[in-house]
Amino acid sequence: MAKLLRYFYTKIVKKNFMKKYFFFLVFVLQSYSNILAQQGAYQEQHRPQFHFSPAKNWMNDPNGLIFYKGEYHLFYQYYPDSTVWGPMHWGHAVTSDLIHWEHLPIALFPDENGCIFSGSAVIDEKNTSGFAPKNSENAPMVAIFTYHNLDWERAGRLDRESQGIAYSLDKGRTWTKYAQNPVLKNKGDVDFRDPKVFWHEATQRWIMPLAVGEQLEIFNSPNLKDWTKVSEFGKNEGAHGGVWECPDLFQMPNSEGKKWVLLQNMGRGAANGGSGTQYFVGDFDGKTFKNDNAPDKILWLDYGADNYAGVTWLGNLDGRKIFIGWMSNWDDYATKVPTSTWRSAMTVPRTLELKKTSEGLRLFQMPVEEAKKLRIKTTSLKNKTFSNQLICNELYVQKEVEMTFDLSKTNATDIGFTLSNTRGELVEIAYNKTSETFYIDRTKSGKINFSEKFAQRHSAPYKASKILKINALIDASSIEVFVDEGKLAMTETFFPNEDFKNLLFLAKNGKTKVKKATIYQLKRIWKE
Ligand code: FRU
Repeated sequence: MAKLLRYFYTKIVKKNFMKKYFFFLVFVLQSYSNILAQQGAYQEQHRPQFHFSPAKNWMNDPNGLIFYKGEYHLFYQYYPDSTVWGPMHWGHAVTSDLIHWEHLPIALFPDENGCIFSGSAVIDEKNTSGFAPKNSENAPMVAIFTYHNLDWERAGRLDRESQGIAYSLDKGRTWTKYAQNPVLKNKGDVDFRDPKVFWHEATQRWIMPLAVGEQLEIFNSPNLKDWTKVSEFGKNEGAHGGVWECPDLFQMPNSEGKKWVLLQNMGRGAANGGSGTQYFVGDFDGKTFKNDNAPDKILWLDYGADNYAGVTWLGNLDGRKIFIGWMSNWDDYATKVPTSTWRSAMTVPRTLELKKTSEGLRLFQMPVEEAKKLRIKTTSLKNKTFSNQLICNELYVQKEVEMTFDLSKTNATDIGFTLSNTRGELVEIAYNKTSETFYIDRTKSGKINFSEKFAQRHSAPYKASKILKINALIDASSIEVFVDEGKLAMTETFFPNEDFKNLLFLAKNGKTKVKKATIYQLKRIWKE
């Protein structure tokens, strides 16, 4: 374009009367092409319309989730030079409503200690770090992250990962790395990463849960700079199919008082293969975490294949515990998913609750209340008995479904719904009464050949009662399913050759009764 304009200018414009109009023409053309570029933004095939994804290039874990002065910060593992993983930076975005995002410049860049792996951010209200000068308008926002030294890795050094800190005095807009980094050195553990630091009021200490190999190590500190190891957890507890990554430890109220929850991401060997998140419920006294369940009891946060590295926000959130995860599967296919200019999106922020069940305290999760703001058009139906398929034929892509089935009026084997297109590609989401499992089947979902691990049917053990309630959020390339108010969650991605607009309810081998169903069209969050 620039070349063409230069040619046009020298050969024609310079020589005649058009000169005075030329610059005006250039201005008009430029504005027009900016408008076109804007319109094209976030419109690519498979581009999530109401989930956070980077404008371009590679993203993985959410990092540094902190709420401060009305803003929820989302930092994230980001490689600005390619759509596949590379030396990590911290990308940055903020939202005031957990739904609409504003992109901000990259917050943290690699330096001589290494590239910037996952970690957390805290508000150092008491200025324990001393980073805030007198009369500072803001408390220091301190990021605590893992340095991964790629040169040392290439040289075979085991101590390639260490922990560093950086601070911002302007609400996360600009950052200064601490001059004496790293603050926690490595004694030779290849995997030594992902600090999720928080303030522990009772002991007046910062606590750092850190994933080390296949277990958790806990450190504490008075000032975010000097760290002491205080305990270990998990060597013989929970699932150990792969290296532990991205822990999160937090206290949660519940009907019986307060308990502590430890989220523990695991790179391989999750419920449905590949990467996934397990959790533990127990107590934490400022030093040691004690698991309430039997050591071999494994609790999965999400039974789908695409919810990894998720952690929760810190900050004063009126008692809400809000979670966000990365919608991909590191171990199975994250770098291969068929998107063009960007790779991967986050889940919708979810509210976690710890509820009493017949098996003990369990995590429930639902989209944050704010997600209801996305709803536009509504279609409802009530008390409808059907067999095989009930065509809802909703002709839009982004939608939310809420449906309640009466299982006492059901002799079908599988009850649920499908998403499909005119090419016969589909995803099936259903409860199988015979095997007591809930499943998502994406074996015929469109583009499936990019990885042999993608085209699968994933299921979760689930014993439904008389009424089965299914909520689902559906975007261009993902579905998040919440069963019975979030007792079970399954998150999966898909890449159809043509968008899934059709929604059919499903009753295989018999009939069922939909007590009530509501389908909402959802707004897109990116600006037109
Ligand atoms: C999890 C993870 C983290 C690490 C980061 C690197 O997905 O492997 O353990 O810090 O990604 O990008």
